[in-house]
Amino acid sequence: MAEEQAVTAAGNEISDTFLAEKKRSDEVLGKLHANPGAYTMLTGDRPTGRLHLGHYFGSIKERVAMQNLGVNTNIIIADYQVITDRDTTEHIGDNVMGLVMDYLAAGIDPNKTMIYTHSAVPAENQLMLPFLSLVSEAELERNPTVKSEMEASGHALTGLLLTYPVHQACDILFCKANVVPIGKDNLPHVQITRTIARRFNKRYAKKHPVFPEPAAILSDAPEIPGLDGRKMSKSYGNSIMLGATAEETAKLIKKSPTDSERRITFDPVNRPQVSALLTTAGLCTGRKPEDIAEEIGEAGAGALKQYVTKVVNDFLAPHRERRAQLEKDPDYVRDVLHDGNKRANEIANQTLDEVREAMGMKY
Ligand code: TRP
Repeated sequence: MAEEQAVTAAGNEISDTFLAEKKRSDEVLGKLHANPGAYTMLTGDRPTGRLHLGHYFGSIKERVAMQNLGVNTNIIIADYQVITDRDTTEHIGDNVMGLVMDYLAAGIDPNKTMIYTHSAVPAENQLMLPFLSLVSEAELERNPTVKSEMEASGHALTGLLLTYPVHQACDILFCKANVVPIGKDNLPHVQITRTIARRFNKRYAKKHPVFPEPAAILSDAPEIPGLDGRKMSKSYGNSIMLGATAEETAKLIKKSPTDSERRITFDPVNRPQVSALLTTAGLCTGRKPEDIAEEIGEAGAGALKQYVTKVVNDFLAPHRERRAQLEKDPDYVRDVLHDGNKRANEIANQTLDEVREAMGMKY
């Protein structure tokens, strides 16, 4: 019962559970490195735009590493999630294709990693019905991420936004994923997923549990700020897109704000803008931001921007080269997605069969 309460904790208790989740994440990662074949990873993105450097260092890089370790890796493009808090699906097809191209260009190998969209997998979506029977309205209402997404959207709370964490549980559990790399904001969704898995097994599948209780994997990568020192976000226009051209990137960096102090120092609290540039350069070169600051010193913001532009563009050049090749071959990109969707359907049909069997709904 105590665990039950922790899992369904209200928003202000999430930070208390964060440390416990982080500990669990580190323990599971240790075991995963020792025996990658025993793990199934599922994570993904909503197709609302292009991927930027923050996505790359915060999650894509880690996915490629897990794939190459030999973990069974799966990526969902969460297209239904787009309509949780907005009322149009404009550009959704382009955004989906853009995501697939960025994944492949970043090193995702479609022979090793399944890429799929949840709208293409009916049996996955059908898990929603039994899963909804396992959560209370109160549990749905107190999900802090749902609350803040509703507030940010300026829309009324839709039924889909209220229940999408359960839908996310369908994404995760249909392929029986036991590791889910996510950012902090998605932690409540992994927690409700574990609750659903446990309750399903307990209520309907006592003899042969159907679902694992997955662990959230919380990255150690520092959050990469946008060029203006604020959170990297498409709406702030402060993000370096993976697929942008070298010229677009140069322009963006050139017009990013700095401060009036000439000497460059790394001081994220007092000089967020200069420090964001240094952090970006540090990630792209593997150097310490402090060392870069020291090297540039009195040469000032102009020299810093020149350096950042060079290292970002050098770092992204191979990605952009591969992406440009893929752009010329949309049929291939579509095939990759169709293959992923086909495989996802096979897996989902199998899981739904087990669910019907467990629930005595095989006639
Ligand atoms: N909710 C995630 C986001 O907004 C995307 C997502 C959908 C996801 N289904 C998932 C992430 C399953 C991890 C696992 O970024």
